[in-house]
Amino acid sequence: QEDIFKKLVAHCKEYGYVFQSSEIYDGLGAVYDYGQMGVELKNNIKKYWWDSMVLLHENVVGLDSAIFMHPTIWKASGHVDAFNDPLIDNKDSKKRYRADVLIEDQLAKYEEKMNKEVAKAAKRFGDAFDEKQFRETNPRVLANQEKWNTLHTRFSDALNDNNLAGLKQIIEDEGIVCPISGSRNWTDVRQFNLMFATEMGSTAEGASKIFLRPETAQGIFVNYLNVQKTGRMKIPFGIAQIGKAFRNEIVARQFIFRMREFEQMEMQFFVRPGSELDWFEKWKETRMKWHRALGFGDENYRFHEHEKLAHYANAAVDVEYKFPFGFKEVEGIHSRTDFDLSQHEEYSGKKIRYYDPELGESYVPYVVETSIGVDRMFLQVISASYCEEQLEKDTRVVLKLPPVLAPVKLAVMPLVKKDGLPEKAREIIDELKFDFNCQYDEKDSIGKRYRRQDAIGTPFCVTVDHQSAEDNTVTIRYRDTMEQERVAIADLGKIIGEQVSY
Ligand code: GAP
Repeated sequence: QEDIFKKLVAHCKEYGYVFQSSEIYDGLGAVYDYGQMGVELKNNIKKYWWDSMVLLHENVVGLDSAIFMHPTIWKASGHVDAFNDPLIDNKDSKKRYRADVLIEDQLAKYEEKMNKEVAKAAKRFGDAFDEKQFRETNPRVLANQEKWNTLHTRFSDALNDNNLAGLKQIIEDEGIVCPISGSRNWTDVRQFNLMFATEMGSTAEGASKIFLRPETAQGIFVNYLNVQKTGRMKIPFGIAQIGKAFRNEIVARQFIFRMREFEQMEMQFFVRPGSELDWFEKWKETRMKWHRALGFGDENYRFHEHEKLAHYANAAVDVEYKFPFGFKEVEGIHSRTDFDLSQHEEYSGKKIRYYDPELGESYVPYVVETSIGVDRMFLQVISASYCEEQLEKDTRVVLKLPPVLAPVKLAVMPLVKKDGLPEKAREIIDELKFDFNCQYDEKDSIGKRYRRQDAIGTPFCVTVDHQSAEDNTVTIRYRDTMEQERVAIADLGKIIGEQVSY
């Protein structure tokens, strides 16, 4: 699986999906650029989210707030004081790690040991294998489960109590070594704030320290009154936003899974106090449906309830996807109470209330938020779509992207570069290019061209041959089945439109 992950990272580069930022200067850690294919896929993901949230929900409206915001906002939101990661240094390698991630890796190791035993036994017993019974009785699995349970409890307690010494103690007791040097020579654990800061204004006029937003959500909270009043919005209603966020992540790994500059798609849903947990359930369900609708297999998604709730939340859950490196968070759904709006009331001195005509009273609305990373969703889509298929003679690498998200919807190819076939192909593109992103391709053999399109995930290849000139038909080849059929040129728009719309 790790191997597949390496291959798909290489594939993303080779086919213009994702490049390391500043690559000719040897790169910048955890910052990435999207290439000619990547930008299209990213835009399609954003549109797919935006349309499902804003177009399909009469009571959800959009916003595009600035990245720079008044510095007091981050004081009010708690980010200045509490948006920290627990860090630890290895004295020998001089490498810095997140203490919680080192412990999570240790938990994953116990899990891996258990899974290995299970996989071995499953192979041995075949159809007769009862996994549940095996897990409950096999001594090696039980021993690792016991270690996992003990570590998990200690870890949750330390996190809940914000106990830095406790985290260090766990690392020592578990004998966790530095992945680089193998040494156990650790410093104490200390807090590190994740926000990037910069200065606004010249020094002469008094520059002030401002932050690059670490989440888009605060832009929505501070515009709550503007949108509610000017849009005459009635509770319950939501505000959705897509935009960049910045975090000085220390553990930058797994490609675009954890980045320092990334994009979020967030929606804050404002509700009557007391109704938030019902709305939390509703959004949980709605968001899971959205993920599953892409057709990557329901079994690859799960909810993960938070053991540790953030200071502002009274319920929180992650939507996790089974990446090649295990189940990991793609989206968070949080019931944030009235924490943020109340804090902004207090720090700004402005009343942020809603007069509820049905109740005949005013209150600070409660908030249920859905928050998903564009880049992480991108990685999820690529991971789920990347396939290596063994054919009779060779292997085919294909990105089985959902047609609605595919960067190029169809490639139009003249069979040969003469006899008027290129012109005919161009005519087809001119007809369809207003509705679909088309690519013209006449170079190399038709087989090679098909493979190139498979590799970038183009769902349809249309081939123009000599018969096309006579009867205005073409062959259409379907990426996933590689089947071909002869269809009228006039029907192409309808055939493709049906598969790429939602
Ligand atoms: N407003 C709530 C919030 O920001 P979060 O759980 O910190 O919550 C939400 O982030 C989502 O943003 C995550 O589920 C993930 O998809 C994405 N995300 C967070 N940090 C990220 C990073 N460093 N790189 C890429 N995506 C990230």
